[in-house]
Amino acid sequence: MSTRVVLITGASSGIGRALAVEAVKRGYSVGLMARSAESLQETAALCSNQIKHSNGTDNLKVFNFIGDVCLENDCRTFIEQSLLNLNRIDVLINNAGISMRGIFVDTDLSVLKRLMDTNFWGAVYCTKYALPQLLQNKGSVIGILQSLDSRDCLRERVIVPVNLRCKDFWRVCDVRTSKPVLMY
Ligand SMILES: NC(=O)c1ccc[n+]([C@@H]2O[C@H](COP(=O)([O-])OP(=O)(O)OC[C@H]3O[C@@H](n4cnc5c(N)ncnc54)[C@H](OP(=O)(O)O)[C@@H]3O)[C@@H](O)[C@H]2O)c1
Repeated sequence: MSTRVVLITGASSGIGRALAVEAVKRGYSVGLMARSAESLQETAALCSNQIKHSNGTDNLKVFNFIGDVCLENDCRTFIEQSLLNLNRIDVLINNAGISMRGIFVDTDLSVLKRLMDTNFWGAVYCTKYALPQLLQNKGSVIGILQSLDSRDCLRERVIVPVNLRCKDFWRVCDVRTSKPVLMY
């Protein structure tokens, strides 16, 4: 059986980078996506280094793809190229995201649109294109969301409708054998 494969969006820093290194430690090949070429390359180098210094992981591969999850075509190409380079997809971690705090009246609509395009549509596009592989391999799709819930929104008078919409997406996402996992 070929090596299992995890795809991680937003892998150029923070949680995404840490997840990528952890995935290779645990014996997965990784497909990484983000917009910043240099930072993404650094994550790829950390993963390759981890592979080099671990026993029995010579067969693992690292594939990185520079792209923007707001763009459907980038998401589709990321999934297609990952499959071509890594042969299969077992786990998709929708980690790419941006955050904001603010009061609706003061918030420019373009900020909300950007949030929606990144945190909601980015996850929808990647999940849609990876789903045939995830179903075939009885894999998993993971969504990493911001932690604010509706009570916080009211109490702190911050508007985070995007995150609520994201949660709704994951709740209704019918991935059948591929169980969606939410991390807040
Ligand atoms: N840190 C926390 O306390 C916390 C708490 C709850 C939830 N989260 C969520 O966890 C996720 C990761 O957070 P983090 O703290 O690791 O943040 P981070 O260091 O800012 O990482 C965000 C990642 O997302 C990527 N990204 C952003 N917009 C993108 C786009 N349009 N297309 C492709 N990649 C994009 C960034 O890469 P590029 O800029 O290179 O594209 C970066 O790799 C986010 O979704 C965040 O909302 C974080």
